[in-house]
Amino acid sequence: MAARPEAGVPRHLAIVMDGNGRWAKQRLRPRTFGHHAGQKAVREAVEFCLRRGIASLTLFAFSSENWRRPPTEVSALMELFLKALDKEVDELHGNGVRIRFVGDLDAFAPELSARMRAAMERTSANTALNMNVAVNYGGRWDIAHAARLAAEAVARGEFSADDIDETRLHGYTCLADQPPLDLFIRTGGERRVSNFLLWQIAYAELYFTDTLWPDVDQACLDEALDDYARRERRYGRTGEQVAKG
Ligand code: FPP
Repeated sequence: MAARPEAGVPRHLAIVMDGNGRWAKQRLRPRTFGHHAGQKAVREAVEFCLRRGIASLTLFAFSSENWRRPPTEVSALMELFLKALDKEVDELHGNGVRIRFVGDLDAFAPELSARMRAAMERTSANTALNMNVAVNYGGRWDIAHAARLAAEAVARGEFSADDIDETRLHGYTCLADQPPLDLFIRTGGERRVSNFLLWQIAYAELYFTDTLWPDVDQACLDEALDDYARRERRYGRTGEQVAKG
C-alpha cells in the first residue's frame, strides 16, 4: 500500500536527471562513469518517494533527442539500462514499486524492449509507488501520439472529431491514469524543460537546482519539497480566492 502523503507533498514528481556528464568530467572520468553514478541517485529518489508517500515518480532517462549523442555513449546507456533492469527490478518489486516505461519503446533493441515490457508486467499489481521511466520519450511525441490515437478512434466511429477536447485528448497521453504532475525538478543547473512532459507540465511547479544528478540525495530532495510546500498554487484564480478555499 502507498504511504499517505502529508499535506503540501506532491503526489506526482518528475525529474530531469541532468549533470551526469559534468560530474564525471570534474573527476576526469568518461561520461559513462557519471551515468553509473546517476543510478545510485535514482535509488535515492525512489527511497525518498516511498518515504514521503509520493504516488508517482517520473524520471527522464533518455530523450528522443539523446540518440544524437556519440554512439559509444548511447550504447553504454543501453547497456546500463539492461544491467539496471537485471539488478534493480527484484528490489523494486519487493518494495511494491510499479515500473512503467513511457516513450516509443519500439526503437530499442528487441532484447531491451522485451525486458522493459517484462518488468512492467511483473510489477503491474504494485501500489506503493508508480515509477515511470521516460525512455525515447519527447513531450511533442507524447502529444502527437495522443492525437494519432484519438484520430484512430474517430476512424473506428467511437466518437466524432468535434468531441475531441482537452479532457479526451488527455486520456490518450502518457500517465493519464496517474495523479496530475505537481512538481517538476531539473538538476544540473540548466533552466529548461527540454521537451519533457509538455502536456503534463501545464500546472506543475518548477524547481531547478545546480546540484548535479549523481550528487542528489534525500536532503536535496527534501529541500525541493520544502520549497514546493511554500508555493501557492492558484490554477488561474487570485490569491484571495485561494485563501477563501
Ligand atoms: C543527463 O546527464 C542524463 C542522462 C541522459 C542519462 C540518465 C541516466 C541515468 C541517471 C542512469 C540510470 C537511470 C536508470 C533509470 C537506470 P548528461 O549526460 O546530459 O549530463 P551533462 O549535462 O553534465 O552532460
